Amino acid sequence: AAANIGVVGLAVMGSNLARNLASREGNTVAVYNRSRTKTDELIAEHPEAGFVPAFSYEEFASSLSVPRTAVIMVKAGGPTDAVIDELVRVFEPGDIIVDGGNALFTDTIRREKAVRDTGINFVGMGVSGGEEGALLGPSLMPGGSDESWVTLGPILRSIAAVAEGEPCVTHVGHDGAGHFVKMVHNGIEYADMQLIAEAYDLIRRGTGKSPAEIADVFAEWNRGELESYLIEITAEVLRQVDAATGTPLVDVILDQAGAKGTGAWTVQTALDLGVPVSGIAEATFARSLSSHPEQRIVSGVLPGPAEALVVADADAFVEDVRLALFASKIVAYSQGFDEIRAGAAQYGWSIDLGAISKIWRGGCIIRAQFLNRIADSYAQTPDLAVLMTAPYFVEALGRAQGAWRRIVSTAADAGIPSPAFSSSLAYYDGLRAKRLPAALIQGQRDFFGAHTYKRIDKPGTFHTLWSGDRTEIEAEDTH
Ligand code: 6PG
Repeated sequence: AAANIGVVGLAVMGSNLARNLASREGNTVAVYNRSRTKTDELIAEHPEAGFVPAFSYEEFASSLSVPRTAVIMVKAGGPTDAVIDELVRVFEPGDIIVDGGNALFTDTIRREKAVRDTGINFVGMGVSGGEEGALLGPSLMPGGSDESWVTLGPILRSIAAVAEGEPCVTHVGHDGAGHFVKMVHNGIEYADMQLIAEAYDLIRRGTGKSPAEIADVFAEWNRGELESYLIEITAEVLRQVDAATGTPLVDVILDQAGAKGTGAWTVQTALDLGVPVSGIAEATFARSLSSHPEQRIVSGVLPGPAEALVVADADAFVEDVRLALFASKIVAYSQGFDEIRAGAAQYGWSIDLGAISKIWRGGCIIRAQFLNRIADSYAQTPDLAVLMTAPYFVEALGRAQGAWRRIVSTAADAGIPSPAFSSSLAYYDGLRAKRLPAALIQGQRDFFGAHTYKRIDKPGTFHTLWSGDRTEIEAEDTH
């Protein structure tokens, strides 16, 4: 046994992770791929890595020191199950199987339970940072048992991104906790991207700036409180000129956003948990709307406002958009952390929200300066019920809300869709409201279905005899 860790699945993410592992002091990496060619290519291209190639699962297992530790980097779903079955066949109790794909957390819970029965540890691990992150330092979100963390901890710490001197990895919680947190990371990623896209659209339509000029705006924003990877790459994308046509690349890219499903999972899970992640949901739906060309042909049919957007002071408008983006981003993160809190309660995980914000500071797609403020907030108040009520965010929201309201109303007046900006603001005002019209909904429910209601002035459950004399009676609680 020559290797202390192995990687199964040598597509780009897997081979980059294997190279990252091999580049760290003390690691020898066994590699296996279903088709031999990928393995041969990786070995030939990276002799410096000192990989130990294996061409069967038996060979792979015998090349690993005990406890055997293997990271699976294959397609989520069936392919992952197939590899797990093979590894379970050749591994022994105490060994560790890590799934580094974007698995649905409920699959991870199921797999962990099944594998645990064999005495082998199964760890679902979120890996963020794309291809470059896998190679140079990703943000890692492992779940699984405490026992597995003893072996995995030092290895993962050695390959993770480093933010402010700390490796971007923590033991998130048991079984599916790691993949749950990665799922929410992606939901926030969707929201962040949609918000940036809305900001770009408003600036372009409002000021007539070119994509290259808007790239300068984003580059400038990236020096302030919005500093983040997604803002940085937005400037890069907007600056790109298409070689074939000489026009901005963004103008020749088809405006239909793809999605591999993690955003939808975040929203579906939130619906099940009853957590209003409205910004993430709008971002996910905005991608769906964009990718229905057969419905979008109605664009000439539906009437819009008579007046086009006229912005008198471009600089002031851009600053308003910046503040609207910042405020909406705070809402998206607040909603995402709310979902993690609710998920942890539902599935019995003990998740340190401050630690999550810290491991997202580097390596991952949503890495941002801003995550330090989230970490500070949880350090001050670990059981913070609503993230955005921490003092830093309250101050920021107070500073931004005027601009935020102006932008949402300007967009509505001009007929420019801003679903994420406006739903974030609606959520904010919903939380602020002393009284919500939910009281009327309760009345309606009681009217047509005798669903009952509670009163503000006395305990108990009540029903009005709507089809009788409309007096109120005490009733059984039917929710
Ligand atoms: C990451 C990303 C990554 C995800 C892509 C694509 O953290 O590195 O979240 O895991 O696969 O962002 O997601 P969509 O295709 O759904 O946009």
